[in-house]
Amino acid sequence: MEQTFLMIKPDGVQRGLIGDIVSRLERKGLQLTAAKFMRLDRKLAEAHYAEHAGRPYYDPLIAFITSGPVFAMVWRGDGVIALTRALIGKTDALQAAPGTIRSDYAVHTNFNLIHGSDSAENAEREIKLYFTQEELVDYEHTIQRWI
Ligand code: CDP
Ligand code: MG
Repeated sequence: MEQTFLMIKPDGVQRGLIGDIVSRLERKGLQLTAAKFMRLDRKLAEAHYAEHAGRPYYDPLIAFITSGPVFAMVWRGDGVIALTRALIGKTDALQAAPGTIRSDYAVHTNFNLIHGSDSAENAEREIKLYFTQEELVDYEHTIQRWI
């Protein structure tokens, strides 16, 4: 089954939104397979956002993402990459559809609460950056047949 990497950014942690965001993903019927509360060092932040190097928002982005703890997760489900991108909403809070995480809670693009992988290749790359194979917990998600 498809897997994706999601990460509640430092603003989401500071605003006490870990529970709400995890709850939305659980209620959707997705399966949590790994989670880690951690702080990114500069090296990991730069590896994560490598494709954004050179953009005008890059330096502030690296400063922001390393400014406090994050909650990194792996979730599994059919079509989970596109589904979670839809639940998260567009990068710019103004463009995010009502009911999405970013529409409901974000005001500025640079404080947009959560990261979600945008493709299968990036999901695989990002999962490997944050988790070892042993940290991905393989188990039967017993409600799957009802979803
Ligand atoms: O997170 P998402 O995939 O929706 O957006 P992105 O285009 O891949 O950009 C990565 C992150 O860079 C965003 O989530 C923002 O935190 C930040 N960003 C920004 O601060 N200002 C921009 N104009 C674009 C992106
Ligand atoms: Mg992106």
